Amino acid sequence: MMHTARPKVLVTRQLPESALAPLRAAAELDIWQQPRQIGRAQLLARAADVDGLLCMLTEQIDAELLQRCAGLRVVSTMSVGIDHIDQAAASRRGIAIGHTPGVLVETTADLTFALLLAAARRVVEADRYIRNQCWRDDNRWYPEMLLGRDLHGATLGIIGLGAIGQAVARRAAAFNMRVMGWSRSGREVAGVEAASLNGLLAESDFISVNLALAEETRMLLDRAAFERIKPGAVLVNTARGGIVDELAMCQALRGGRLFAAGIDVFGREPLEPDSELLALPNVVLTPHIGSATRHAREQMASMAVANLVAGLQGRELPHCANPGVYG
Ligand code: DGY
Repeated sequence: MMHTARPKVLVTRQLPESALAPLRAAAELDIWQQPRQIGRAQLLARAADVDGLLCMLTEQIDAELLQRCAGLRVVSTMSVGIDHIDQAAASRRGIAIGHTPGVLVETTADLTFALLLAAARRVVEADRYIRNQCWRDDNRWYPEMLLGRDLHGATLGIIGLGAIGQAVARRAAAFNMRVMGWSRSGREVAGVEAASLNGLLAESDFISVNLALAEETRMLLDRAAFERIKPGAVLVNTARGGIVDELAMCQALRGGRLFAAGIDVFGREPLEPDSELLALPNVVLTPHIGSATRHAREQMASMAVANLVAGLQGRELPHCANPGVYG
């Protein structure tokens, strides 16, 4: 009797068993079980002879790794963003890239709004105010206490009008905001006034960054862009840190060009301990938790598994980020 070898797969994080089941049925799994993320050396060693890789956005799937993994046919990332994967190198080798669009849209839009509100209404600062025993009998309530910004009646500028940007726009409409939007493709969205990027920066009281990191969007909000931002605006970024010049943002927060910011993503993650952001009181910081709800993460895991299983079985990935590999 002839036995066909089962494909080998490396999974770089423990995932819910319910999500993994179809993959267990289709392949031999090597699952990185440790609480610390897999290091580069371990990744290179353990991925060397795999047919498929299920990775997180924390692993650099670069040309070196792809070249070392001669048998790799499919990379499935449990993220919608694919900026950690060398797409050109993967495509050249005919390696399909799977990702998880759609299932984290509303969840990420919720966090965007949480940060907008928290930054505008100084929620974290107010929390610290109480914990640091600043709230005393002699200042129980006074007209100037912890004043913030109103969302209602203000203009929100959304940079990037993909699914998440549109979900943010829907929330903004319910808050009675005027919504402007800019996208690289010039996409038109009902209820969103199309604007140039410069026009949006100049007119928006709130700015939300909701586009993918790619070569064309890296440092899109550079020093010059910050000089165009309407004085006193609030900036929120739940997309990727690399889109925003962090030093220019700090300067804008310090100098008052920005009233406040809500930041979930950073140029370097985790945020370095000497980052100036940590010292600025008018910034709300969260550690890349845009999609961090149990429901969204379970769906992302299942989707990543479905992509990988399809690739291992020689089928087109349900959510392929480089469909050009299919000719
Ligand atoms: C993604 O999926 O790219 C997010 O950044 C994490 O959910």
